[in-house]
Amino acid sequence: MVKLRAGIIGLGVGEQHIVGYDKHPQCEVVALCDCDERRLADARRKYPAMQHYSNADDLLAEPGIDVVSIASYDNDHYGQTRAAILAGKHVFVEKPLCLYPEEAQALRILLNDHPEVLLSSNLILRKVPRFVELRRLIADGELGELFHVEGDYNYGRLHKITEGWRGQLDFYSVVYGGAVHLIDLLLWLTGDRVIEVSAVGNAVASRGSQFQFDDLVVALLRFESGMVGKVSANYGCMVPHFHGLTIYGTKGTYINGARDAQLYHSRDPDQPPRTITTKYPGVHKGDLAYDFVESIVSGRVPLVTMEDVFRVMSVCFAIEQARDRGGAVEVEYI
Ligand SMILES: NC(=O)c1ccc[n+]([C@@H]2O[C@H](COP(=O)([O-])OP(=O)(O)OC[C@H]3O[C@@H](n4cnc5c(N)ncnc54)[C@H](O)[C@@H]3O)[C@@H](O)[C@H]2O)c1
Repeated sequence: MVKLRAGIIGLGVGEQHIVGYDKHPQCEVVALCDCDERRLADARRKYPAMQHYSNADDLLAEPGIDVVSIASYDNDHYGQTRAAILAGKHVFVEKPLCLYPEEAQALRILLNDHPEVLLSSNLILRKVPRFVELRRLIADGELGELFHVEGDYNYGRLHKITEGWRGQLDFYSVVYGGAVHLIDLLLWLTGDRVIEVSAVGNAVASRGSQFQFDDLVVALLRFESGMVGKVSANYGCMVPHFHGLTIYGTKGTYINGARDAQLYHSRDPDQPPRTITTKYPGVHKGDLAYDFVESIVSGRVPLVTMEDVFRVMSVCFAIEQARDRGGAVEVEYI
């Protein structure tokens, strides 16, 4: 059996991709890259049988690699994705795909010119067992017609922007880095399309630190069906990392909690909600790498398609524009 050979650039969350690739019987990780010599030295010790690179260009130029994970800093995703597509490698890119609409447009054109290349992104909330179950409940009509959805990305790790690389980039967006997960989740759960957004933000929690951008962004979304939504990227919140989610339908309301979720089917205060104990988060960050490999080898549609990636980025770009300019912004789909 010929195995797909994978290479990984960036060994923070990227190291977790190894597990996903290696779990698949038709894939093996053959190359790792990190520009940090200490991290690369650790990788040499832990994974001696693989090739090790300190420069991503060298890994991307390696003809023996079929699929590449891009888990470098956000500002390198575009260039590395571009190089991977040009080299004919399938791309599993960490979110965000890129930082500017023009970059997304350029990647779209390049992918059209290289139909043999598949691309997906690690929008991992689609693998959370509790959200998989919720999607089924919505599809089965348990919540009735949806009219309002809310998703809160409560980061709970403020130090990562006030101290780490995120605060040292020329541009970092908490929408692209955080809210992207909740926006994707809402699109996937509801199957709806966002047509217009507005947004506000502030930087109270990170004031006086190295971080020069809003650490809180709250966006309102208007969907094609008439449903409305609210999404926040809240990097300064004083709570542990958590994905807040509330879905309001005409027959039920679903509220995710850190321990359990609750599903209300009545407005009567004496009628208790159904408690849902299905696992949350209950995912491994490499789970979608496995799914992507399976889609490459079997030809089936991946859980996160290329269309999904451009769709969620298009909504994110509109939110950043709305936050910047004020007023409502129509989503321009790339
Ligand atoms: N999908 C998720 O749930 C999830 C979770 C965490 C991070 N991420 C994304 O993964 C990316 C990395 O974040 P992280 O938390 O792993 O950061 P990290 O700092 O823990 O690790 C990043 C690693 O990549 C290396 N690196 C950066 N740029 C590089 C380059 N051009 N070439 C080679 N190596 C490079 C760094 O030296 C570092 O070791 C970010 O884009 C982030 O948004 C996604």
